[in-house]
Amino acid sequence: LNGFEGKHFISIDQLSNEELRGLLDLSKKYRDTYGKASTVDPITAPKPLTGQSVSMIFQKRSTRTRVSTETGMTLLGGQSLFLGPSDIQLGVNESMRDTALVLSRFNSLVLARVFSHNDVLELSKHATVPVINALSDLHHPLQTLADLMALEDHFGDVKGKTLAWVGDGNNVLHDLMLGGAKLGMNIRVATPEGYEANEGILETTKKLAAENGTEDVFLTTVASEAVKGSDVVVTDTWVSMGQEEEYEQRVKEFDGYQVNANLMGQANPGAVFLHCLPRHREEVSDEVFYSPQSLVFPEAENRMWTVMAVMAAQLGKL
Ligand code: CP
Ligand code: NVA
Repeated sequence: LNGFEGKHFISIDQLSNEELRGLLDLSKKYRDTYGKASTVDPITAPKPLTGQSVSMIFQKRSTRTRVSTETGMTLLGGQSLFLGPSDIQLGVNESMRDTALVLSRFNSLVLARVFSHNDVLELSKHATVPVINALSDLHHPLQTLADLMALEDHFGDVKGKTLAWVGDGNNVLHDLMLGGAKLGMNIRVATPEGYEANEGILETTKKLAAENGTEDVFLTTVASEAVKGSDVVVTDTWVSMGQEEEYEQRVKEFDGYQVNANLMGQANPGAVFLHCLPRHREEVSDEVFYSPQSLVFPEAENRMWTVMAVMAAQLGKL
């Protein structure tokens, strides 16, 4: 992770394979050091980010991203500042550019959850400290680190394993397919017509798949076709934040996409289920969501170990 210091964390494709490996390994190291199973006294545990701070701009709601970042930063000895939509001048009286320039003078890092991906790009263009994308309409790279960590915890090496996405072609899918391909996973994606993944990101995934020796990315509109032969089945909400008005329409168009016992039964024996949360019953049945096959709660916990790794690596203070 030597070269990672000072870099922004905007999308998974911007990481080299070595950086992705390094961040996952550091996340596991932090879990060993600071986790519930650790024997280290929290008072004497290392505090590599003492004196550092992260400003957290949230234009949308969050449970995991906010709490994992605030708690993780505290464990590492630093401070975090939550800036909700009505807490700062951004968007009303002040531009993203000026916000970036000002926050960079107070804080060591700026994290942002935004609607338009262009906003996080604008932030990173002008900030003079490292920026973390905490979800935009196109990318959710922090989530992918947590997901890949959960899969490595379960399977060990994931190279050659097959990941099936069933649902909306959204931000969570985008980074997960980029990251999965980087680790040598075969990617299979089922999305309803009109809800496909972003074309440019699909192209990048296909390129990464070829580079990392996986099967070509398989695309379909039939959920069971994607799931057949898979070791991991993943979904997310059908209605992302900001799309609430499309709820009725989407629920109709995603008919047949619920991950339930019948669909899981078409995956390989021992297949596992992932969901970034928050979750609704329409996209996954209780039976699957609370089953032993479901890794959703370790996956959520990993959000903390992984964001800690990103912040420490960006600051070059592991
Ligand atoms: N998975 C995730 O990003 O959750 P929050 O929206 O609660 O942060
Ligand atoms: N795709 C969802 C993920 C929430 C964590 C959204 O953007 O709302």
